[in-house]
Amino acid sequence: MTKVDPRLESTHWQPGPAGLPRALHGIHPDRALSLAEHRDLHGPMALMRADDLIAVTGQAGLHGHGGAGFPTATKLQAVAAGRRSPVVVANGSEGEPASSKDEVLLTRTPHLVLDGLVLAATALRAREAIVAIERTRPHALEAVAVAVAERAAAGDDPIAIRIVPVPGRYVAGEESALVHLINGGDAKPTAVPPRPFERGVGGRPTLIQNVETLAHLALIGRHGPEWFRSIGTTEEPGSALLSFGGAVSRPSVFEVALGTRFESIVAAAGGESEPVSAYLLGGYFGTWVRREDLWGRHLTKNDLAPLGASLGAGVIVALPKAVCGLVETARVMQYLAEETAGQCGPCVHGLASVSDRVNAIARTQTTPKMRDDLDRWSAMIERRGACKLPDGAVRFLRSALVAFADEITEHQHGRCQATHREPLLPIPHAGRDWGWR
Ligand SMILES: Cc1cc2nc3c(=O)[nH]c(=O)nc-3n(C[C@H](O)[C@H](O)[C@H](O)COP(=O)(O)O)c2cc1C
Ligand code: SF4
Repeated sequence: MTKVDPRLESTHWQPGPAGLPRALHGIHPDRALSLAEHRDLHGPMALMRADDLIAVTGQAGLHGHGGAGFPTATKLQAVAAGRRSPVVVANGSEGEPASSKDEVLLTRTPHLVLDGLVLAATALRAREAIVAIERTRPHALEAVAVAVAERAAAGDDPIAIRIVPVPGRYVAGEESALVHLINGGDAKPTAVPPRPFERGVGGRPTLIQNVETLAHLALIGRHGPEWFRSIGTTEEPGSALLSFGGAVSRPSVFEVALGTRFESIVAAAGGESEPVSAYLLGGYFGTWVRREDLWGRHLTKNDLAPLGASLGAGVIVALPKAVCGLVETARVMQYLAEETAGQCGPCVHGLASVSDRVNAIARTQTTPKMRDDLDRWSAMIERRGACKLPDGAVRFLRSALVAFADEITEHQHGRCQATHREPLLPIPHAGRDWGWR
């Protein structure tokens, strides 16, 4: 069985169908492209006025790649409408343990991300451009520091770029937590409104975009919206990076056109390496879906919505039949409960109680009442936090209760069919930066 590796050793790049890869075009497997190599590969990038950038981004139909899939043009427009000169933040926190696509971008093609940041910042006449990167990803921090220094030496950018290290916590990459950190506080979410686009860093309107979104923006700035729409679907144009792990022959980060059939994506990851019972889509805020329900579907919101699933930030994990989905769910629920920022009662106490119950079920020390408790408690936790941690955890849990319903019945009889006890999903632990600053 292949264990999910959130880091880079197992990463490789697909040649892909015509038009792909885009964001990963021309990269080296083991080092970052220099500024000179980057410019040879992608050519120069003209800067734009805010109106033009908003228009081409809207025509391209670019949506965010940080998880929520929000239309980027709408965010640009909202920040441009602010009265004070704004701040633009590239969000490379990547707090999702099963994701490594942002780290791949930052360590292999940092200038593409920085191009997107500079394009947005100059169009919006921003006062500051910031890249936020998790401290536990030192290779990304180093690659971006080198890239920022190269650009400063070249002297072409009209705006300086600052790097902000982010603590390695799940919620630290949430946008209000990032703003709080950059403003000198802890990386803990704050109650909103005001939203960062209204009042964020230094009280200024703040545009926060995932680093992959900015890489696509840099390509749209160069090649235009028609080029961007030439792959993907009419409703969901373009491509996305996936972090694909678990029981496949090549767990890796690669780029696919949106709308690709699920079977083709599995094939691009080398195919299943052993019998698979379910897939995790969207990471630890995501959804377990049984394998048979995914086959024949495409990677679109419309195809995934009836399953209660979405691509989120691009994480896909194949769960081998030999591994217990309830044990994996219990491991993630415990991790999410421990990742509470400790500010909202339902999140702190509710997630801990839910995690205890799921643990008992996973260990086959369960009764039908425990299953009912989970339904009741989930409803009490949902929408009761300042951030989306409780909602994401509840979504993940509910999907497990459906996808692993047969396994729960087995566990209630004291049986578990799983034969493999090695943990599958990565849970950050020793060596992790547990602070909030
Ligand atoms: C708990 C939580 C954690 C998040 N962590 C990240 C993260 O690590 N990286 C990221 O880009 N977005 C993260 N987000 C989403 C951000 O709040 C924000 O929506 C995103 O950076 C916007 O970029 P986009 O529009 O380009 O997707 C997180 C959201 C939540 C609720
Ligand atoms: S919901 Fe949880 S993680 Fe989010 S702010 Fe409240 S305590 Fe912190």
